[in-house]
Amino acid sequence: MKSNNQHRRTIRSYVRREGRITAAQQEALVSCWDRFGINFSKQHLGLARIFGRDVPIVLDIGCGNGDTTLALAGAHPENNYLAVEIHRPGIGNLLRKIVMNGLVNIRVIGHDIFEVLEHQVPDSSLEQVMIFFPDPWPKKRHHKRRLISPSFLDILIPRLRQNARLFIATDWKDYADHILAVCDCDSRLINLAGKGNTAPRPRWRPQTRFEQRGIRLEHEVWDYVYALR
Ligand SMILES: C[S@@+](CC[C@H](N)C(=O)[O-])C[C@H]1O[C@@H](n2cnc3c(N)ncnc32)[C@H](O)[C@@H]1O
Repeated sequence: MKSNNQHRRTIRSYVRREGRITAAQQEALVSCWDRFGINFSKQHLGLARIFGRDVPIVLDIGCGNGDTTLALAGAHPENNYLAVEIHRPGIGNLLRKIVMNGLVNIRVIGHDIFEVLEHQVPDSSLEQVMIFFPDPWPKKRHHKRRLISPSFLDILIPRLRQNARLFIATDWKDYADHILAVCDCDSRLINLAGKGNTAPRPRWRPQTRFEQRGIRLEHEVWDYVYALR
């Protein structure tokens, strides 16, 4: 019989669409990958070795075009940033801008976060995790594709350090309720705004294109911040 996590692995939280990739993004995927990309493998990463130093690791899950990773890595050279995304144009954009901005504290993995966490990210290695505007999968029959789920937390939580923070934001009300239900019910996490509450928007969270689109559509935005109990 399949375990929950094995079952979860066959239901993806994304659909692989290549979409339009610009020549510059394609070129960055080729020319910058060896320097800033990490290939998926079923082996634990030596994060200090990969980054060339042992400092706090911030994980950006589903980084999209990488705008948040870029802004924070530039503002916080004291941290290392690991960005995970499966959309190749977004990865190409991020790689290009890492080089344009002369950043050295970002590495990128182009693979399903579920498998990246399970196989590559060592236990107790993450200081901060950001999940900003995960795909909401609004149709009821697609709710099983939502990234944030009890089985996802089972994989994520052991990878957090003792004082780690988990930041989540969404502009989809039904997903906001789902996030609260899943994370508030997990006895390993504390909602820092109090059970059932949203957090104030972190001042450092940049407004990405996804958020701007939501705001144009008059969506509200819900932020959550969790710590390990
Ligand atoms: C709506 S976008 C948000 C992008 C970005 N976080 C932002 O705030 O602008 C969600 C992103 O998550 C990525 N994604 C969804 N499931 C994923 C998974 N299992 N592993 C890696 N990336 C994933 C999608 O490809 C998409 O780019």
